[in-house]
Amino acid sequence: MARTPKPLVAGNWKMNGLKRDLAEVRKLVTWLGKNKCRSDVMICPPATLIVEMSAAAKGTPVRVGAQHCHAHVSGAHTGDISAEMLKGAGARAVIAGHSERRADHGETNADVSAQAGAIHRAGLVAIVCIGETEREFKDGKTLRIVSAQLKGSLPPSANVKNTIIAYEPVWAIGTGLTPTPDDVAKVHGHIRKRLIAELGEPNGQAMRILYGGSVKSDNAAELMSVANVNGALVGGASLKAKDFIGILAAYV
Ligand code: PGA
Repeated sequence: MARTPKPLVAGNWKMNGLKRDLAEVRKLVTWLGKNKCRSDVMICPPATLIVEMSAAAKGTPVRVGAQHCHAHVSGAHTGDISAEMLKGAGARAVIAGHSERRADHGETNADVSAQAGAIHRAGLVAIVCIGETEREFKDGKTLRIVSAQLKGSLPPSANVKNTIIAYEPVWAIGTGLTPTPDDVAKVHGHIRKRLIAELGEPNGQAMRILYGGSVKSDNAAELMSVANVNGALVGGASLKAKDFIGILAAYV
């Protein structure tokens, strides 16, 4: 029988968080100590907090990730950070190709693929984001877009251990809007088929596919129960431990 991937709930703090906000991670750790959660748990803070958050999370179930990296190991790239540097700071994973990076920084599928390759080179897990815009959704192009992004954004080094897919409809991010469970099932089922075609049966079946976009405590249980949804990538609702715990409750 095909292996069902262990779910992951990952918080993406985006450009939010100062030292004092590490208190939220401590609250999360306390809650995880008292509750049996069936999912893995990760927070991706801004790069400035990775060292301290990793120290605060040491020996706990909380993993720390990063939000972006440059494709090169080092060099004349002012303001950029390499996957190796993020690993040294304590990150276990790096998000690649978030739609905000694709939109704000013009990142293409080829850029995302190079970053994901760099993340693998450093021995970290790449969380590769894909998802259609509102226009594409309305025009019925979702599956086509997602297929093209998947094909273009996954480097040859991608395997079931080092890569996680996050499907995030751009129009659902930060808007309070979510696709229906049926729509989510359709897209995740499609991604699963594409992964099996690319990686073969056991690996394509076992790669985690997260859903992201306005996941909150009141919709998490429904979204997380959809077929082929193996967890969530959470933005706004990951900033406060109370809200994030409300989402983790879907796995308790
Ligand atoms: P949101 O963001 O949960 O605030 O909609 C999700 C994301 O961008 O990963």
